[in-house]
Amino acid sequence: MTASEYLPIKNTQIHLIETVPFFFQTNEKDFILYKEGGKGFDSDRLKNNKHPKLYIAAKDKTAALTELSKTLNINFAKSVASKGLKQVKEALCSIVEEALTPHQSKVLDGMPETIDILLNGYDKDKKTLKYLTQIAGNSSLIVEHTINVAALTLQYCFFHGFEEKKIKELTLCALLHDIGTSQIDKAILEADRKLTQREFQVFKDHVTKGHDLIILETDFDISVATVALEHHERINGSGYPNGITKITADSQLISIIDCFEPLTYRGKAFRKSKKPFDTLNLIKKEVKDGKFDRTLFKDFTSCLIR
Ligand SMILES: [Fe+2]
Ligand SMILES: [Fe+2]
Repeated sequence: MTASEYLPIKNTQIHLIETVPFFFQTNEKDFILYKEGGKGFDSDRLKNNKHPKLYIAAKDKTAALTELSKTLNINFAKSVASKGLKQVKEALCSIVEEALTPHQSKVLDGMPETIDILLNGYDKDKKTLKYLTQIAGNSSLIVEHTINVAALTLQYCFFHGFEEKKIKELTLCALLHDIGTSQIDKAILEADRKLTQREFQVFKDHVTKGHDLIILETDFDISVATVALEHHERINGSGYPNGITKITADSQLISIIDCFEPLTYRGKAFRKSKKPFDTLNLIKKEVKDGKFDRTLFKDFTSCLIR
């Protein structure tokens, strides 16, 4: 086989994939079997990171990602059962991290199960969801943002008594609203300064890229792709990518939470985070400007202050 028939495996994935064989590359650029499929790793080697850069055969990619997604959910379920919030947050971060890795759309198939586990574990426990947003993880800004948006969405849904099917659908929308960022240059995503105009143009593409990825790579309801496309639109037509004024109710909800979250929870170095009350005042100004629906804003505010 040639080099293009092998794919590198991230260090964080090695202990999560057991069924497919792993390979390493020799100095002569040949690929040699490192571990047979179905066999686990020596735990000492894993702990001490004592292994070369590892690869899987390209033909095993789907099987490996399916197993990865399953194992992540099993680990997530274990952490939810143990009730340690820090562990729950870490396990959830790992799942979102993998979902936001380019060319791993197969991992998205496991997300409805992730939501089931989360809902079964924390059904209507508002405090727990609140704490989930307050635990700082070691993950990237975009992973933390995604989880916070999902936790706030759940808070909103529980407060307003949404039925379970709708709660699951909106949580999936929240978890995938920024999935298109997996196809945007990391330097732009993680820039600790205001983006240049050209960089911002590139960033804006995450909405169409996310929409197309969900349509092409998953079987999820069209509403999930629509939220990915519309979450930066505003009802007065001032948003992007299309400047439309008719935006679905789901998109409007995720938009307002998406706007509230980064201002409140984790300011970038150049922009300090604000108190929730101050952020709400800022969004209130946007409501006055006609960007967000007044009733939706009130409903969102009430779920936060109870
Ligand atoms: Fe976005
Ligand atoms: Fe977002």
